[in-house]
Amino acid sequence: MAFATVWNYCVPLAILTIAYLVRTARCQAVQAENVTVLEGGTAQISCRLQNYDGSIVVIQNPRRQTLFFNGTRALKDERFQMVLFTPRLVRIELTNVSVSDEGGYFCQLYTDDTHHQVATLSVSVPPETPTVEVKQKAVEGGEAELSCVSPRSKPAATLRWVRGGRELPGVVSQQEDFKTFSVSSTIRIPVERKDNGAALSCEASHPALGGVKRTRHYRLNVYFAPTVSIVPPPGILREGDSLSLNCAVTGNPMPRSIQWSRINETLPERAEISGPNLQISRLSQSHNGTYLCQAQNDYGWAGDHYSLLVYDNVSVTTTVVPPTTTSQPITSHPSNPTPVVPIWDPYHKDPGAVVETHSAVPYAVIGGVLALLVFTVICVLIITIWCSVRQKGSYLTHEASGLDEHGEVQEAFLNGNDATQGKKEYLL
Ligand SMILES: *[C@@H]1O[C@H](CO)[C@@H](O)[C@H](O)[C@H]1NC(C)=O
Ligand SMILES: *[C@@H]1O[C@H](CO)[C@@H](O)[C@H](O)[C@H]1NC(C)=O
Ligand SMILES: *[C@@H]1O[C@H](CO)[C@@H](O)[C@H](O)[C@H]1NC(C)=O
Ligand SMILES: *[C@@H]1O[C@H](CO)[C@@H](O)[C@H](O)[C@H]1NC(C)=O
Ligand SMILES: *[C@@H]1O[C@H](CO)[C@@H](O)[C@H](O)[C@H]1NC(C)=O
Ligand SMILES: *[C@@H]1O[C@H](CO)[C@@H](O)[C@H](O)[C@H]1NC(C)=O
Repeated sequence: MAFATVWNYCVPLAILTIAYLVRTARCQAVQAENVTVLEGGTAQISCRLQNYDGSIVVIQNPRRQTLFFNGTRALKDERFQMVLFTPRLVRIELTNVSVSDEGGYFCQLYTDDTHHQVATLSVSVPPETPTVEVKQKAVEGGEAELSCVSPRSKPAATLRWVRGGRELPGVVSQQEDFKTFSVSSTIRIPVERKDNGAALSCEASHPALGGVKRTRHYRLNVYFAPTVSIVPPPGILREGDSLSLNCAVTGNPMPRSIQWSRINETLPERAEISGPNLQISRLSQSHNGTYLCQAQNDYGWAGDHYSLLVYDNVSVTTTVVPPTTTSQPITSHPSNPTPVVPIWDPYHKDPGAVVETHSAVPYAVIGGVLALLVFTVICVLIITIWCSVRQKGSYLTHEASGLDEHGEVQEAFLNGNDATQGKKEYLL
């Protein structure tokens, strides 16, 4: 039984193998080479012949349509050209290769025993620079959802999101559409106002591109509510001055319009508004009030206010001038910081004079002290003369007289003090 099986299967197999080996050694054959080409490029499909003896060579496309019959065009497709037909090599060229050209090309040799090889044509489609689609708008405090899309590649491109040199992990999805792939990578990132304008990029890599990446740069557009702040004018404002307020507004999108108003009242007639600026010329006290600047966009509202107080010229001076001033104005002091130059009333309630009075106080004190000294010297002289006159008829010793003298001087000092105090009051 076992012998019969061996006889039935092994012997014919051995005979066939031997027959094949003998034939390849002696007979003609073809060899085909696989080829990979970029879409739109030119593919060369080659068939090598061995021991060619003039038999008919047929080349067929993947649908088994005959392209060339022994060197003669059979299919009417000008993209195929026979470029070489030698006893060793048959080569055809296909220009503007498309994905639909992919498949096995048959090199067939018609001899007494038909004989063929298949050359596989692969078409590679490198990705274009990917695009970025905003799936969810970036609003301050929320999350942005961005998709990087590479609509067509073969094999599927690899997408990578990068921010500041670091990869952001994305959710990749892939769809096949007639041998090519549509790939997308979606990221969700939390966004704050400071992220507005942040640079992201999406890189597509692909075997057909080598190490080169096709990169799409993207800047985050983070939407946020406006901020408003009024820049107040420096110093105080008086009647006749002009007011200029600037309202600094931010926001994304930038608020289209800025509203100026005055709380509980209408804006003064003289108010001129041009965008973020409010101007009131020739201020009067009727312009006192709270001015409001407001701005709005789709994400919120903001406002800032400014309280205007208009001082009159008279009240400015009276607030500075103390009620009692009898001193004479002294010439203007260079270090006087008061900006008021009261040329309109030089004799009465002059604020310049007020400042000078304060700075004149040390002079008054020095004057007082000098007067006191002079006065004391005079007193001492008078007392000395008086004493020397009295001494002539005195029985007292020198020492007693000296004591007396001292007592008088002390008294005189006290008197002198009183006198200078009076003088000081007088000076003021
Ligand atoms: C050619 O490609 C086909 C299909 O991909 C494969 O089966 C075959 O082994 C390849 N031949 C060579 C010589 O690489
Ligand atoms: C096929 O073409 C080759 C080359 O042109 C030629 O040598 C050969 O005779 C042709 N064979 C037949 C059967 O026509
Ligand atoms: C290449 O083929 C495509 C379609 O596969 C066609 O749209 C295009 O015009 C062709 N280009 C040339 C240069 O023939
Ligand atoms: C506006 O009027 C209301 C009610 O009369 C009052 O309570 C409020 O203080 C006023 N605001 C200003 C800024 O004058
Ligand atoms: C305007 O404000 C100034 C400064 O507070 C004040 O002196 C004046 O009386 C105010 N005038 C009016 C009309 O409210
Ligand atoms: C205050 O001074 C300005 C100019 O400095 C003047 O135009 C205005 O009339 C003065 N107002 C009063 C009340 O004196």
